[in-house]
Amino acid sequence: MSERIVDPNSDGEDFEESGAGGDSSHSAHAESSLRPAFLEEYVGQKKVKDNLTLFMEAAKQRGDALDHVLLAGPPGLGKTTLAHIIAHEMGSQIHTVTGPNVEKKGDLAAILTNLQPRDVLFIDEVHRLQKTIEEVLYGAMEDFKLDLIIGQGPAAKTLRLDLPKFTLVGATTRTGLLSSPLRDRFGVQMRLDFYPIDELEQIVKRSAKLLDIEMESSGANEIARRSRGTPRIANRLLKRVRDFAQVRHNTLKITRDIARAALALFEVDDRGLDNMDRKFLATIIQKFDGGPVGIDTLSSALGEERDTLEEVYEPFLIQEGLLQRTSRGRMATRTAFEHLGIPFTRESSSLSLPGMEPIIYEPKRED
Ligand SMILES: Nc1ncnc2c1ncn2[C@@H]1O[C@H](COP(=O)(O)OP(=O)(O)OP(=O)(O)O)[C@@H](O)[C@H]1O
Ligand SMILES: [Mg+2]
Repeated sequence: MSERIVDPNSDGEDFEESGAGGDSSHSAHAESSLRPAFLEEYVGQKKVKDNLTLFMEAAKQRGDALDHVLLAGPPGLGKTTLAHIIAHEMGSQIHTVTGPNVEKKGDLAAILTNLQPRDVLFIDEVHRLQKTIEEVLYGAMEDFKLDLIIGQGPAAKTLRLDLPKFTLVGATTRTGLLSSPLRDRFGVQMRLDFYPIDELEQIVKRSAKLLDIEMESSGANEIARRSRGTPRIANRLLKRVRDFAQVRHNTLKITRDIARAALALFEVDDRGLDNMDRKFLATIIQKFDGGPVGIDTLSSALGEERDTLEEVYEPFLIQEGLLQRTSRGRMATRTAFEHLGIPFTRESSSLSLPGMEPIIYEPKRED
């Protein structure tokens, strides 16, 4: 596979989110060197892999393009990696753009008309595409046609171009923000889940090998347990623990004790929560009596963007049972109080008041 990068602002790698997990240094090269290139090396997400293998095999047998694929899930779980793997496995080229960076219809037209049959067009942050751009995509995805309007006023003409059959792979951290006409046009829709510890351990071991780090199983387990279920964070912690081992212990061998000492120094706790996670929960508990508190109020109290709170922090805290989303706002759970060592004060019966039942769907942004 060779890669054509269409968008100068997107190098096909990701910008590491600044929160969750500590350091925000961006190292696209390092991240891509750890990125599995084939499905076989992609750890975990069994259901996703099984389905993809089947759909890709069927498309290959027919000599057809794979149907459009939507990949949803929190940051760092492997969406970009999967998009590249799809192109690799289909033996085609990948063209990468990021939703908000496609500014004009003409930009998208240029990209679409340059595709070869069975190429992958990867649109990252697909929920942030402009409405007008999205509308161009509808026809391209459904009928592989592109309608161009040439000229202006009464003399304007519509020109209909045929496009090659291509595969649109869209990645989103927020399915709730995707318009339904767009979502419905993805024939394959997959959600990536947080990784269990044993799979993260495999990822840490694999990365350690690639980075020439000697790793004890117990050391890998320690890093895995504190990675917020996220491969990107596992890889990042691995590198920081390596730095610690090298400088403080003059060794490249990571034992459980070294991993523990390093992670304590970086203030990642035994549940994998970092400072911001703890501040998030502590604010709800100490400033808002454990909640419920609205997300916008929390966003100003924490001085952090609402989107970042919803995309980066909340999914893990909710999955860990530390946070609840109710129709009246966010609430810290009893487990959160206990984890922070704060006596549980809120009337536990308040959870059964009307409007306090946990909701599980993702609320649409009110705009
Ligand atoms: N299943 C996996 N097996 C091994 N490594 C993985 C896996 N998933 C992700 N990784 C590692 O984690 C890193 C981050 O993954 P990736 O960039 O694909 O996440 P993402 O879902 O696109 O995140 P974002 O939403 O922030 O763009 C990759 O560089 C790769 O090294
Ligand atoms: Mg990505």
